Amino acid sequence: MVSRDVDILFSKEEVENKVAELAKKINEDYKSENLLVVGILKGAFVFMADIIRKMDIAVEVDFMDVSSYGASSVSSGVVRIEKDLDSSIEGKNVLIIEDIVDTGLTLEYIVEVLKRRGPKSVKVCCLLDKPARRKSNIDPDYIGFSIPDEFIVGYGLDYAEKYRNLPDVCILKPSVYKE
Ligand code: PRP
Repeated sequence: MVSRDVDILFSKEEVENKVAELAKKINEDYKSENLLVVGILKGAFVFMADIIRKMDIAVEVDFMDVSSYGASSVSSGVVRIEKDLDSSIEGKNVLIIEDIVDTGLTLEYIVEVLKRRGPKSVKVCCLLDKPARRKSNIDPDYIGFSIPDEFIVGYGLDYAEKYRNLPDVCILKPSVYKE
């Protein structure tokens, strides 16, 4: 039972309410605009699937997959694009969807790369923000929850590719990853 490995931080109901709240702001901000929603794989896929279904504006979706050079769970800031966007973003309003911003180094790189492609605007929406770990100047435009420096899994987030399917946002018990 994977549920024994975790403690719930935000229940699926709390997450659902927060996603609706974020989508409401996005709907207001992009009222008469078109929007390209860009999900950063893999962690953002659950959040992305939920938030776009609360949007009542015209949206297109695309995905990017990036990875840090040098293994380890700590972001190095040197990022490689594993999968790029399928089409041009020139003149478009881009909203990047992330599950979690930790050091912010991944997002800093992505935002910089996308801004060079001539979009109309680039904004960032993240479900979880860990400001204590920040090593960049990234300041997400839409933030779901600010969280303490814990190992988070569930709702798309993994530990060694597991736990992404948990419906709640959870804290992984240290006994699991320190074994
Ligand atoms: C996570 C998360 C962000 C990044 C945040 O991805 O989805 O992309 O780390 O870290 P940073 O702010 O310190 O740069 P991860 O590399 O775990 O890949 P995944 O989404 O495929 O699980």
